[in-house]
Amino acid sequence: MIPLFDLTRQYGKIRKEVLDAIDQVILDGRVILGPSVEKFEKELAEYLDVKHAIGVANGSDALVISLHAIGIEKGEKVVTTPYTFFATASCIVRNGGIPVFVDVEPDTYNIDLNQVEQVLKKEEIKVVIPVHLFGRTVDFEKLDFLKQKFGVKILEDAAQSIGSEGKIGNIVKKSGTFGDIGIFSFFPTKNLGAYGDAGAIVTNDDQLAERARMLRQHGSKKKYYHEMIGYNSRLDSIHAAILSIKLRHLEEWTQRRIEIAKTYQRLFEEKKLPIKYPKVEEKGYRSHVYHQYVVEFEDEKTRDRVRDHLTKNEIGTALYYPLPLHLQKCFAEYGYKQGDFPVAEKLSKTTLALPIFPELTDEEIQFVVEKISEVL
Ligand SMILES: Cc1ncc(COP(=O)(O)O)c(C=O)c1O
Repeated sequence: MIPLFDLTRQYGKIRKEVLDAIDQVILDGRVILGPSVEKFEKELAEYLDVKHAIGVANGSDALVISLHAIGIEKGEKVVTTPYTFFATASCIVRNGGIPVFVDVEPDTYNIDLNQVEQVLKKEEIKVVIPVHLFGRTVDFEKLDFLKQKFGVKILEDAAQSIGSEGKIGNIVKKSGTFGDIGIFSFFPTKNLGAYGDAGAIVTNDDQLAERARMLRQHGSKKKYYHEMIGYNSRLDSIHAAILSIKLRHLEEWTQRRIEIAKTYQRLFEEKKLPIKYPKVEEKGYRSHVYHQYVVEFEDEKTRDRVRDHLTKNEIGTALYYPLPLHLQKCFAEYGYKQGDFPVAEKLSKTTLALPIFPELTDEEIQFVVEKISEVL
């Protein structure tokens, strides 16, 4: 059996460290926002080279709190992509706003910033939420252009892209740190994953950081004195201690993900398979961290035939995402319909996520590609 993702193989290697760390947190006794959270926040900020990192309960809350910290009016429009996880758009509605979807690029699957520019020309928009989908960084140069030209605020959804980089001029920055504020998810399957829900908000803006810090804890700085209506969304101390351990391995794990992507690519090329896959680019900075390895087939029928064959051979796959957000029932009131975003709609029918995690072996990759080629 080759799972899409396997947490247990990695745990075998770090088990003692993790159990010791949990033990330390409990022995210390400070299990709500204790020293382990402060330590992880400091280490995360250092790793990303950003001024503030604020641990929260999960990536979805990180989005809600970040948008709340920026502050939008009731009924205000916020631009984002329809080809992402639900939480990217639900945070807009949960803040009283209206999601304005813009289609994605056929090659990167990230929001099409040229189309965003057209929307910004026509409408009053204060916030754009780009997503570095599957671990690939959105074009920072173009985002910067939009920021300069329209004065929009950027909330980066970096839930899937910890460690990926982008470039503006000669400056390389990590995803999540380019915008006014950025978020990460440490959901267990993420490149940096806890053993439960966890997330973080990062920013270089002191005021946004202060608001986010208050919002994660009932809108208060001083206990029992509330300046805003906030949330109970703290990063658990035990998860923080585990994340500190895992952060030390992140670079090595990311390198292995890149190696896996290269191996898939080499095998697809050798077999001349009619597949579109994320090409490993040598740009001088790390534009992709392969959180998911998503390939594209000619049509839905081929994709489904491949998926069935892989399932029969006990190979895990997933569909990211089977129904684009503009067609979700819960967003029906915004009036979108089938055909509005042809690229996202096509990708939802033709893409398939293949197994990728640092402990996946070359033999396993070979087996996956063989099984795909049997169908094609
Ligand atoms: C793009 C994106 N945004 C937001 C989230 C939400 O993160 P969480 O699951 O930690 O709430 C996820 C996670 O699955 C995600 O993939």
